[in-house]
Amino acid sequence: LNYLTPKSRQEVLDLLVTGLKRLEYRGYDSTGVAIDSPDNKNIVMVKRTGKVKVLEEAIQEHFSGGDYSEPVLTHIGIAHTRWATHGVPCERNSHPHRSDDGNGFVVVHNGIITNYNDVKTFLAKRGYEFESDTDTEVFAKLVHHLWKTHPTYSFRELVEQAILQVEGAFAIAVKSKHFPGECVASRRSSPLLVGIKTKTRLATDHIPILYGKDDKKQSLDQDADSGKPQVLPRSESTSEFMPLEEKEVEYFFASDASAVIEHTNRVIYLEDDDVAAVRDGTLSIHRLKKSLDDPHAREITTLKMEIQQIMKGNYDYFMQKEIFEQPDSVVNTMRGRVRFDGNAIVLGGIKDYIPEIKRCRRLMLIGCGTSYHSAVATRQLLEELTELPVMVELASDFLDRNTPIFRDDVCFFISQSGETADTLMALRYCKQRGALIVGITNTVGSSICRESHCGVHINAGPEIGVASTKAYTSQFISLVMFALVMSEDRLSLQQRRLEILQALSKLADQIRAVLKLDSKVQELAKDLYQHKSLLIMGRGYNFATCLEGALKVKELTYMHSEGIMAGELKHGPLALVDDSMPVLMIVLRDPVYVKCMNALQQVTSRKGCPIIICEEGDEETQAFSSRHLEIPRTVDCLQGILTVIPMQLLSYHIAVLRGCDVDCPRNLAKSVTVE
Ligand code: G6P
Repeated sequence: LNYLTPKSRQEVLDLLVTGLKRLEYRGYDSTGVAIDSPDNKNIVMVKRTGKVKVLEEAIQEHFSGGDYSEPVLTHIGIAHTRWATHGVPCERNSHPHRSDDGNGFVVVHNGIITNYNDVKTFLAKRGYEFESDTDTEVFAKLVHHLWKTHPTYSFRELVEQAILQVEGAFAIAVKSKHFPGECVASRRSSPLLVGIKTKTRLATDHIPILYGKDDKKQSLDQDADSGKPQVLPRSESTSEFMPLEEKEVEYFFASDASAVIEHTNRVIYLEDDDVAAVRDGTLSIHRLKKSLDDPHAREITTLKMEIQQIMKGNYDYFMQKEIFEQPDSVVNTMRGRVRFDGNAIVLGGIKDYIPEIKRCRRLMLIGCGTSYHSAVATRQLLEELTELPVMVELASDFLDRNTPIFRDDVCFFISQSGETADTLMALRYCKQRGALIVGITNTVGSSICRESHCGVHINAGPEIGVASTKAYTSQFISLVMFALVMSEDRLSLQQRRLEILQALSKLADQIRAVLKLDSKVQELAKDLYQHKSLLIMGRGYNFATCLEGALKVKELTYMHSEGIMAGELKHGPLALVDDSMPVLMIVLRDPVYVKCMNALQQVTSRKGCPIIICEEGDEETQAFSSRHLEIPRTVDCLQGILTVIPMQLLSYHIAVLRGCDVDCPRNLAKSVTVE
């Protein structure tokens, strides 16, 4: 949204499309944009099924010709890339959604409106007809209804009243032909930030929050029953827009920073139920009611992210780049925290809470997908070095079970994005019950960061590929560092700590050595890519690699794959093994070596010919394999970092050979902000 500098619609559209490309990893089922007509009296929308590239072509087709490149004064556009929740991916269901066929109000939305059926019924009774199967459309029509019934309301007030009526999760941006030059956005449970770009350095580091007096919500059903005109409470603020001193300013609303970083590194993270509005080049942040400890202003944060970090560089795919970044990303996770010379570790974000954590009843590690696997990977070491009970939980299942939580529990929430709805809900559940909340995330300013009492930023750098790679190894290391901090003063554990610290210091070089296996792994992929299934077996410290490896294969290649605890082999999975079933086994010289060898022999005696990941020079184990990958020796509890990398490479190469879209696997999204 640019106020003073005239831009053409072409520039606005280019900016929106580039922003969408940066956000594509959040969803790529369908896309759409809405911008003003040149005379500002109408809104033009273009939508397409599929990825942003398809939309880009459609825009070129739609807007070719004269006025497209003419400067216009208002530059408000909204755009969206969708991950389908309600309604199949198709043009009709893609955003923006509109209030009426005159495009009075248009809306883009991330999240789920859970009471959309009630709102829809209410609106249908008033003659609204729906053209999509989405929950979002009801929001556009609700704002329209409020506008009709309350013609004196400001745009901000209309949206504010509408969000009072909806339940669920949303980050929403609304534009209207009735309010040209304005845009209103709000969030609840889904992330939303405002980027601020100015020509000169911003003279302020905060934007004041304007509070209304009222928080009453009119029941839509009551109103429907009584048939009386609906009277909504009016907010008291009038002069609500605070001009920044800078004369030329652009604002960006976005779900995450990657969409705005090429324009500005100054952002405000909005909080739940903030309503941010831009009018005539000024921004306001409004809330309906002030509670006792609510702040007076929202801080403008300076992001450290660099644009290069979200570009592919010389790699073909983001995932490939992120796999190869791991020698650096693991060092960044340890930077400033681990002192190898003095064997000391400081985790600044939790150090003040360590005494409290040491007194806890148990440690709970909660996450989804890959983040959950990092908890599985480090559980044994945490048990060993903290001597506390450690529970590892999938956030969704944890919530389904209404798991008992106590005030003296310490709950870790592990999440790359810091926005995963299941994990965030589990966090709130534990916080309500008085537990100490520790966030382990890769995204500074994310909801999980902000709602935790303390935490560790894993500092892996932005991860764009939908399948997580470098975030996993950095989460792993963060939890290992935590275990080391917890055992600092345990005399009996010093030898063990030393061994781990020394291994950590060699890790980056060892990862480099594992990455050299790339072409060997590619050859292996050629043998495997036409198969239907891949079983991955291991136990002890490497069971997590089996789960994570199988997840990578499933996500990226759409092949069936299963991570199997080798100890369970004889209790069922062995039935799957024959001479044609591909099996990969992780067999390292650690305390479970003998047991792994038993499993290996059970497989070979059923004519299975496993591929083995083993230690360098371990010829005895290699003798049982059809093919093998050798990895350097490290301490047992860190092996998982080295064994997961061949699995990342393998899934990547199989996906390429099968012609799959590596960075955007079908049906998946990187940041799942719905339960
Ligand atoms: C989605 C992604 C996975 C990710 C999981 C947890 O399912 O596709 O790659 O592991 O969410 O995400 P988080 O951001 O919480 O780590």
